[in-house]
Order: sequence, then C-alpha cells, then structure tokens
Amino acid sequence: MVYDNIVLIGFMGSGKTSVGKILARRLYKDFADVDTVIEQEQGCSISEIFETKGEAYFRELEQKCINQLTAKKGQVIATGGGVPIHSTISDKSLIVYIDADFDVIVNRLSKRERAKRPLFDDEVKARALYDTRIETYKKLATFSVDANQTIPTFIHVIVDFVLDKRVL
Ligand code: S3P
Repeated sequence: MVYDNIVLIGFMGSGKTSVGKILARRLYKDFADVDTVIEQEQGCSISEIFETKGEAYFRELEQKCINQLTAKKGQVIATGGGVPIHSTISDKSLIVYIDADFDVIVNRLSKRERAKRPLFDDEVKARALYDTRIETYKKLATFSVDANQTIPTFIHVIVDFVLDKRVL
C-alpha cells in the first residue's frame, strides 16, 4: 500500500499540531493543519465560525478542507478532533491516532487553549464527547500511539512506523 499523506487524528488537545510539525520536519514532508487552513480561508477564528455560522457549517468547511488537502501528496496533516467523526478521510491516508487519556489532556490544556475550543467549554460535556469518539478514532487508525508522555518520548515510535511504510 502506498499512502499519499499522513493524517493525524485524536481528541482536542492531544497534541496533533505539535506532533505534526515535528513529524513533518523529521520526515521532510510539508505540514498542514486543517483548523489553521480554515481560519486563514475564512479570515476568522474557529470560535467565531461556531458562533456566527454554527457547528454544521463548520463541519462542511472541515470536509472541504480535508478533501482539498488530501488531493495533494507528501504532507503531514493535523486534523481537528471532529474530522474523523464528521468527515470522510481519503483512504490513501496513513492515519495515526494520537491517543492521550482525557485527564492528561485536561491537565495539559491551559485556560487560553480551552477558550479557543468551543466544544471544550464544559469539562463534563467534553469528557462525554471524548468517550463517544475514542472507538471511532481507534477503528480508523492505521496506527495508534500512546501520547500520554511528552512528545520527545514517543515521536520516534511514529517516525519508525511511518518510515517502514511507503508515503509519497
Ligand atoms: C473540534 C476540535 C478543534 C476544532 C473545533 C472542533 C472537535 O480542533 O476543530 O474546535 O470537534 O473536536 P483541535 O482538535 O485541534 O482542538
């Protein structure tokens, strides 16, 4: 199997963007982040899109964005936590699940980071959302990595796995 891109999935705050940037550098690939692309194209923040246009509209933007990105090759793509749930991801993607426990995520996310995420407003609801999503993340993933430690402790596990595969 030859993959076009590496797509990182996982819950909000699991570290997809930070992992993706490092991974892209290590593998000499381009890096793209779905949330950042959407914010740039829309000229406003994810929170503003949720507020003014609603979640359903945001989900449409996500699907369009992941389609556009995966039409190209040779990238590490970080997704928003809802992409695997609400969108279809090209089956030519090597999907890596950044698997962190909810309590680890809560401890990692600063107030400022939480404020950027409309679905993290309420911790009880966010935990329930986490519980409903993890099975889908696991099922979709080509490979899951335990991301409960700091990035330097597990990044090589992903690098080794990916280097063993053919990614264009
Ligand atoms: C969301 C995750 C966020 C962002 C939006 C919705 C979700 O991205 O796309 O707030 O549904 O899980 P991160 O996973 O980068 O926080």
